[in-house]
Amino acid sequence: MTTPAAALLAKTKDRSALCGVVGLGYVGLPLVMEFVRAGYSVIGFDVSQKVVDLLNGGRSHIKDVPASAVAEAVRSGKFVATTDLTRLREPDAISICVPTPLSKTKDPDVSYVLAATEAAKQALRRGQLVILESTTYPGTTRELMLPALEATGLKVGEDFFLAFSPERVDPGNAKWNTHNTPKVVGGITPACLQVATALYQPAIEKLVPVSSTEAAELVKILENTFRSVNIGLVNEMAIVCDKLGVDVWEVIDAAATKPFGFMKFTPGPGVGGHCIPLDPHYLAWKMRTLNYRTRFIELAGEINAQMPEYWVGRVVDRLNEQGRAARGSKVLVVGVAYKMNVDDVRESPALDVIRLLQRRGAAVSYHDPHVRKLKDEAIDLASLPLTSETLAAADCVIIVTDHSDVDYALVERCARLVVDTRNAIEMARRRRQTP
Ligand SMILES: NC(=O)c1ccc[n+]([C@@H]2O[C@H](COP(=O)([O-])OP(=O)(O)OC[C@H]3O[C@@H](n4cnc5c(N)ncnc54)[C@H](O)[C@@H]3O)[C@@H](O)[C@H]2O)c1
Repeated sequence: MTTPAAALLAKTKDRSALCGVVGLGYVGLPLVMEFVRAGYSVIGFDVSQKVVDLLNGGRSHIKDVPASAVAEAVRSGKFVATTDLTRLREPDAISICVPTPLSKTKDPDVSYVLAATEAAKQALRRGQLVILESTTYPGTTRELMLPALEATGLKVGEDFFLAFSPERVDPGNAKWNTHNTPKVVGGITPACLQVATALYQPAIEKLVPVSSTEAAELVKILENTFRSVNIGLVNEMAIVCDKLGVDVWEVIDAAATKPFGFMKFTPGPGVGGHCIPLDPHYLAWKMRTLNYRTRFIELAGEINAQMPEYWVGRVVDRLNEQGRAARGSKVLVVGVAYKMNVDDVRESPALDVIRLLQRRGAAVSYHDPHVRKLKDEAIDLASLPLTSETLAAADCVIIVTDHSDVDYALVERCARLVVDTRNAIEMARRRRQTP
């Protein structure tokens, strides 16, 4: 008699396995496309009717996924999106890519993972594989998901399979994508690991199996903590250099000529996006439950979080040098996305920069070629065109995001005062000089 594991392995081999992807955002949609490209059929699940209608209509809301690829997948019958989570019974494998934000008190908010797990539990049948992709604290898969799924009476590793495989997608990165970025996989049992790697194998260039779901969960948090700590370090170095009257960019560039033992990180207005400002807090929270304080994580978080305040202080100082108060001054923010060449403003330091400037009485406007409108509790702005007039009308221009499609030569020429948190003007100058 064929075991559920053997049946699933056979289905991954001939691509007859039906894949389900829960959460069709920055992580879920690129994964759908890789499954389709590998020859699988995919049902995409999302709670947003808007997202589902858009995708079924052959359009894309994720910049890195072209609408033509979605349209082709839908047209060929390889992909359909639905809000009907009872259909989770249909796929052989379910990849969960839902958000893992923080609560107001900076504790993990795993409510989306719990909701998706509950939906998977309601539909769970013998032979299914469930994989969590959302970034989370070590223990989530085993402590939260496993008991819920086993409450159905089905046994993990025999009747159904459970794994964790963190998504490493870097939105806007032209070189590294879901397909060619090695993918870490950890299973609850060896059979879980085996079926999960077999599922991904045709879709992802290189798989990195690890011994447990906890190890896989921690890999992702280590990667993001590594970035957070190193960005915190160079941000502190930027403040140090400012106080010493030394150019931090010159120091970093010279240090980066060392062929070993140094990795270049660059300072800026703070950290943003769905990962770096959030994920380390997941580990810090988990470790607090074990009576351990993760000091590096907290310190880096503190330094990165204070950078908007630091840069707004620079704007105020520069205006002061010109005999102007911040109150009543016009400040133009260039770039509001959390990093270059993306349209994502989640946790963007630009939001803090704008709020802090407004609190000081400045009249703030912004330009971002990727973000047409900016709206949150306190902000309601639309991107202005970057012209000599808009630049000259501002008392100060602060460059927060260094998008590559901004005319920095124009900024340099027309702005009366520039505070450049990314060294974007100098970098553009160098690009103009090297053909
Ligand atoms: N964005 C990134 O660059 C990135 C990179 C690596 C890892 N991650 C991690 O991946 C996870 C997903 O992030 P994202 O950026 O793709 O989020 P996202 O907000 O872009 O997409 C999540 C989608 O899930 C849907 N959703 C929410 N609850 C649901 C539910 N119960 N059932 C079905 N759909 C549901 C939402 O409507 C949304 O469309 C997070 O844990 C994040 O930390 C993100």
